[in-house]
Order: sequence, then C-alpha cells, then structure tokens
Amino acid sequence: MPRTPFIAGNWKMHTTADEARKLAAEVRDAAAGAEGVDVLVCPPFTALPAVAGVLAGSSVMLGAQNVFYEESGAFTGEISPPMLTSLGVTYVIAGHSERRQYFGDTDEIVNKKVRAALAHGLNPILCVGEKLKEREAGEGWKDLVRGQVTAGLDGVSADEMPRVTVAYEPVWAIGTGKTATPQTAAEAHAIIRNAVGEKFGADVAANLRILYGGSVKPENVKELMAEAEIDGALVGGASLKAEAFGPLIRFRE
Ligand code: PGA
Repeated sequence: MPRTPFIAGNWKMHTTADEARKLAAEVRDAAAGAEGVDVLVCPPFTALPAVAGVLAGSSVMLGAQNVFYEESGAFTGEISPPMLTSLGVTYVIAGHSERRQYFGDTDEIVNKKVRAALAHGLNPILCVGEKLKEREAGEGWKDLVRGQVTAGLDGVSADEMPRVTVAYEPVWAIGTGKTATPQTAAEAHAIIRNAVGEKFGADVAANLRILYGGSVKPENVKELMAEAEIDGALVGGASLKAEAFGPLIRFRE
C-alpha cells in the first residue's frame, strides 16, 4: 500500500475564532476535489469549535497543537484528550520544537502525550528534529533524532503505530525561510524510518508516514514531495493563507 500524502497546517498562536472560521472555509474550499491527499488543520484550542463547524462534512480533518496527558483533574490551563475528541478533533501534534524549547516538553512528557492521545483515540503527530548547533556539530544529530523517535514512541504498540505520524522538523528550518534540501530531509527521514523499523519491524516502518516541516511553501513543495521518503508536510507560516496552503494541497499540479 503506498502511503497517502499528508499535508498538515499548524496555525500556531494565530487566528481569533472569527479569523479561524474564515481561514478554515478557504482551506475547505481549496481542498474540495483534491484527491489522494489527506489534509489537516491545527488551529489554536480556542478556535477548534468554530473550525469544527466550518469543516463539518468536508474532507479536511481537525487537529490540535498540543494535549495534556491526564484525562481530567487540577491542571489549570491544560486541555485533555477527551476535551479534544468531544469537539471532533482527530489528530494532535506532540512535541513540536516550540513546545520543547519554550514550554519544557521533554522526551518523557512528549511520550506521555503520545500515549495519552493513542489511548483516547487521537492520532498523534510526533515531532522530532535537531537544532542548528547540533546539525553543525557533526554526525551527532542523527543519534539525537533517533533518540527523540524511540523515546517518543516508548510503550507504543505495533498495533497502534498505523495511527502515528512522525514529523521531521529541523529547528533551523522552522520559520526561518531556510528549507532543508529535499536530499537532506530525505536522509533524516530514512534515519527515522530505520529507527522505527528496529523498534516495530519492517512493515510498520514501511507504512509510517513521515512529514517534513520547516519553511515548506508553494515554491519548494514539489521537489520535497518528489522524494520517496517524504510523505507530506507540516506547515506553519504557509498554512495561514489559503493562497499558499491551497497549492500545497495540490502539490501534484
Ligand atoms: P514553518 O513552521 O512552516 O513556518 O517553518 C513549520 C512548523 O513549525 O511546523
């Protein structure tokens, strides 16, 4: 079974509910009729109900940018998996580099989020990737990325793996306009797929979708998607305008 391309938008801390409704409607229209591609948008928590309403009946899926790993309790400011599923959310991003960098998400916390998501029927997108100084320091980034993958998937079963997506997002390419070359990204994806193969077996690895993230835009999406190892994109900046996100969904044209 070939892996279905997957284009996901991470709106980060952008859009009020009204702005989100408008953008979601534009994405919905841009995605209408697009075949052979899965499309996801991840608005901020506060816009999820509004966007769920706009996307109802369309093929565009709804995701959240983060999740807490407890089901309920005294955790002021946090959002649990059932709160998300009750809104029609089906995907959740876990371990985005901005969460790791600014909000203390460690590999252990990210792993708890991945497992909680799976336990509650959500599909996690596990984000991994090295920083610039790690990339420049020789070959060590490879072990670091491997380590993020194996730690992030600790305790996950092979049966659950078809619901997992991994996103390779080199931190030096996020929001910087610096895209990894398709070859650089593909090399990292192969390392990730190998690590998953060692942990879960060749079939799981062959079916795993690995997205690239970091300054993906209409100008570079075709060459990235031409790499056999790259199954899709996790898109920040270019997901905030339908004029840019639409061409990403239609990367084949
Ligand atoms: P960017 O962000 O596309 O703006 O580089 C990607 C991401 O952080 O997911």
